Amino acid sequence: MAALGARGGLWWRLAPGGLVGLGLPPRRYRYKEKWAETASKIPATRLALQNFDMNYSVQFGSLWSSIRISLLSEQKYGALVNNFSDADRISQDLELLNAVDFVYESQKAAQQVQCDSPVEQERSEETAPPEIHSEQTPSLLSTAISPNIKCYTFSKGDISRFPPARPDVLGTLGYYLLDAASLLPVLALNVQPGDLVLDLCAAPGGKTLALLQTGCCRQLAANDISASRSKRLRSVLRSYVPTEISANVRITSCDGRNWGEVERDTYNRVLVDVPCTTDRHSVMEEDNNIFSRMRLKERQMLPMLQMQLLLAGLLAARPGGEVVYSTCSLSQLQNEYVVERAVELAETQYNISVRVEDLSCFRRLFQDTFAFFEDCRLGELVLPHLTANFGPMYFCKLRREH
Ligand SMILES: C[S@@+](CC[C@H](N)C(=O)[O-])C[C@H]1O[C@@H](n2cnc3c(N)ncnc32)[C@H](O)[C@@H]1O
Repeated sequence: MAALGARGGLWWRLAPGGLVGLGLPPRRYRYKEKWAETASKIPATRLALQNFDMNYSVQFGSLWSSIRISLLSEQKYGALVNNFSDADRISQDLELLNAVDFVYESQKAAQQVQCDSPVEQERSEETAPPEIHSEQTPSLLSTAISPNIKCYTFSKGDISRFPPARPDVLGTLGYYLLDAASLLPVLALNVQPGDLVLDLCAAPGGKTLALLQTGCCRQLAANDISASRSKRLRSVLRSYVPTEISANVRITSCDGRNWGEVERDTYNRVLVDVPCTTDRHSVMEEDNNIFSRMRLKERQMLPMLQMQLLLAGLLAARPGGEVVYSTCSLSQLQNEYVVERAVELAETQYNISVRVEDLSCFRRLFQDTFAFFEDCRLGELVLPHLTANFGPMYFCKLRREH
């Protein structure tokens, strides 16, 4: 039977092909619509900005106006060199564009600082092997970062853009464009040769690809709950990585929250790059926006989901293993508070002791490329800035003690 109804003051009928408009209803059925129904919907991007204005103006004080304008301006990209292509030629091509490998340049600059500063010299002599922890400020040169990662960016203030990568004769792409700040969690993970690595929320795969560039993963488990996004991850690997390398990548589509129950105490390194409010996306794009009214509950539950995922990552790490938690949000609630709560729960519920590592050396090492927030209590936060419009990117490193 066809259903009848009214919408927007006009009558409609539900027919096999969908809604069929019937025009104006008879006078006796006409009614004055409530303002709430007729009021134009507020775009999710506007809701996001309102939410950020309310929360981040308190969190960042006078810094917020500069972060805000940067979030609303064009983002910068980095070109992650694909070591499985002709990497030297690709690097040369990128250098011809006046881009620089920020990872290499930062380390070179650190070497210079060390030569010039007796304090840095002393520190690097004291700090061997290069483990970083909170009781000691690490030397720049002893900063432990994942090797073999090359990422080109244009220098501060240069807003040039990279052309899309072209396939070589074998169909392999030479570089992957991404927010260069999203490499920092991978660099912080400091993957070592022979490591078993878990990427708990891996799709679409930028960080998975970066993990593979280190050439250190004995095995890499790349998981993402979304089957469609996992498909994109497979396609990224197909375009960048030879089959003998991707054979060592196990792709799954499980709920990462349960990972700790399945594979406990297993991995040397775990990356937990959680779903978040994706702040830049949320103020710029209506599509798939977490601030849409329909997704209110999902948004409210994010910190809980993030905490459960981090906890699962901690359980999956073996004692002595390292976990990096990351988001692309500025929110303290999704960043430091989640870390604090997960550390607390690991201790009280699982008797696992976790140490939050000091990453302030990253701030010093990469200060020429990124704008860092100076006042993070735990972890580091890259702030969007008009001269270096990367991020936001929060990352925090945790070491499982036992
Ligand atoms: C920030 S994105 C990851 C980006 C990815 N690491 C990269 O660099 O390309 C977060 C991902 O978490 C996934 N996700 C959400 N809930 C999850 C869960 N319970 N378990 C595993 N993955 C989940 C989402 O599908 C999404 O792809």
